[in-house]
Amino acid sequence: MFAVLSDIHSNLEALTTVLADIKKRGIETIYCLGDVVGYGPNPRECLDMIIEKARWCVLGNHDYAVLYEPTNFNYAAEQASFWTREVMETSEDKPNCDRRWSFLGDLQMRKTLKSKLGANIVIMDFVHASPRRPINEYIFPDDVYTNPLKVRLLFERVRHICFVGHTHMPGAFLDEPDFYPPNELGNVYPIIDDEKAIINIGSVGQPRDKDNRASYVYVNENEVHFVRLEYDFETTMKKIKAIEELDNFHAERLRDGR
Ligand SMILES: [Fe+2]
Repeated sequence: MFAVLSDIHSNLEALTTVLADIKKRGIETIYCLGDVVGYGPNPRECLDMIIEKARWCVLGNHDYAVLYEPTNFNYAAEQASFWTREVMETSEDKPNCDRRWSFLGDLQMRKTLKSKLGANIVIMDFVHASPRRPINEYIFPDDVYTNPLKVRLLFERVRHICFVGHTHMPGAFLDEPDFYPPNELGNVYPIIDDEKAIINIGSVGQPRDKDNRASYVYVNENEVHFVRLEYDFETTMKKIKAIEELDNFHAERLRDGR
């Protein structure tokens, strides 16, 4: 059994809620698909928790933004990444500060696992965004209708199962192409031998599918389970509103799940 988290976005309340749920289920292995930081008020705390709890993490565009430069960011997202960098640079605690920077600096763009899940041998790729552009490409549910060619081309880069985050909208893409939100799957996607899937695991710290609960998945045997959890977003909202450099929209969207 393992859990996969993504897009924490410096939201400590959501992350602690998700980690508690993972512990309660007795899951010991956690993988992270990036965007640990950006938008939210607790970058250092979230980095420290992911460093401690996740077996590995891949690079997200917001991690990249803090480490190198924001790429295609709107003004508010860019401001948040500059604020995050400033907070990380002005930390008094030098060893922890260095540890966080080297964690970000060492993040890879993709990871692959070959594993026996139930009766099947499964190849799983893990990236932040998409199998062909691992840091920056958005795969939206609507793409299956508005740009089916794009989705078909993406599936050329998928060997069997590819886990992604980035859009903050959970669900499973199949190569028809088709998209199934978790509720249409009964919250479980069964991995089978002859079906490719791109599985978006949703966002821990900033869900955007009109459901404000934190999202993650865990894999047990050949089943991918989509989980949603209520958390204390009001506390996160208050923290964001108290920081001048963080746009109030980053707070409002947590309540609305957008
Ligand atoms: Fe993100």
